[in-house]
Amino acid sequence: MTEPTTAWTMTSHSDVLELWRKQVDAKLETCLRSQPESRLRDAMAYSLLAPGKRVRPLLAMAACDALGGEAVHALPAACALEMIHAYSLIHDDLPAMDDDALRRGRPTCHIQYDEATAILAGDALQTLAFETLAEAPVRPLDVVRLLRILARASGASGMAVGQAWDMEATDQAVDLDTLQRIHRHKTGALIQASLEMGGIIAGADETSMARLGQLGKHLGLAFQIQDDILDETADTATLGKAAGQDRAHNKSTYVRLLGLSGAEHKAQDELTGAAHCLKQLAADDRPLACLVDQLARRAR
Ligand code: IPE
Ligand code: IPE
Ligand code: MG
Ligand code: MG
Ligand code: MG
Repeated sequence: MTEPTTAWTMTSHSDVLELWRKQVDAKLETCLRSQPESRLRDAMAYSLLAPGKRVRPLLAMAACDALGGEAVHALPAACALEMIHAYSLIHDDLPAMDDDALRRGRPTCHIQYDEATAILAGDALQTLAFETLAEAPVRPLDVVRLLRILARASGASGMAVGQAWDMEATDQAVDLDTLQRIHRHKTGALIQASLEMGGIIAGADETSMARLGQLGKHLGLAFQIQDDILDETADTATLGKAAGQDRAHNKSTYVRLLGLSGAEHKAQDELTGAAHCLKQLAADDRPLACLVDQLARRAR
């Protein structure tokens, strides 16, 4: 196993986050190498190892660290989260969904390979996530808790149902409560699960788990509102995905419902809520606080 690295051996929290990011990428590669060689595996690697921000893995590792655990113990969970996320992106980009041709600065999986391979790469990343999570170095009861949290956050009570509602809301006028429910599920659920999984691995108590959950709710909603804002305001080169697609496809977004400044205010409210939760967790001198701050100011 990789040597534990504690924050105080590093010069700054952002260096720690960078180190964790490298550890995640290395383990993702190892997990893929454990699969037999195939065109399917190439397609999985193409999307999974592409230069994403690795937000969910870092949230899991940072939450584990903030609650007194060793961040490296969260690596299997971190990689499982990134695999679910990468699968969700591959399927999100398919012609039947958002029909996007660019992702993480590269042609999308179905453009680089083909639609059937992209569908199967998503499927196989999803199952590889659970295989990887089963390695988590915690007692068996906690492995089961982790598997359950990830499954619930990914499927018909989390990301997948959020994506289904997102598709239904396209070309429709939905109200703010409905949009909030869509965003909390399609994106918020996995972000909340990332923090909670880090907490379980650290052996966090019920109070801390509830606070991590609240932090995840605020951060998850803020993250998707920012995604809506960036789709409208940022350029394709910065995003690594085609800008302006939400408007072009008449998607239900915070920008469409509240306008740009209304969406910015709502994102800010959620980030203020997140900062409050961080204070309650007494984690404001940990890499987790640095990560939340980076997310608050993100430009891509
Ligand atoms: C994009 O997620 C899709 C959403 C859920 C908003 P990210 O912004 O985390 O994408 P990557 O992983 O950095 O590519
Ligand atoms: C996607 O939301 C959320 C997922 C679960 C993948 P978007 O469709 O807005 O994500 P992008 O903008 O394509 O990354
Ligand atoms: Mg989408
Ligand atoms: Mg999309
Ligand atoms: Mg988007």
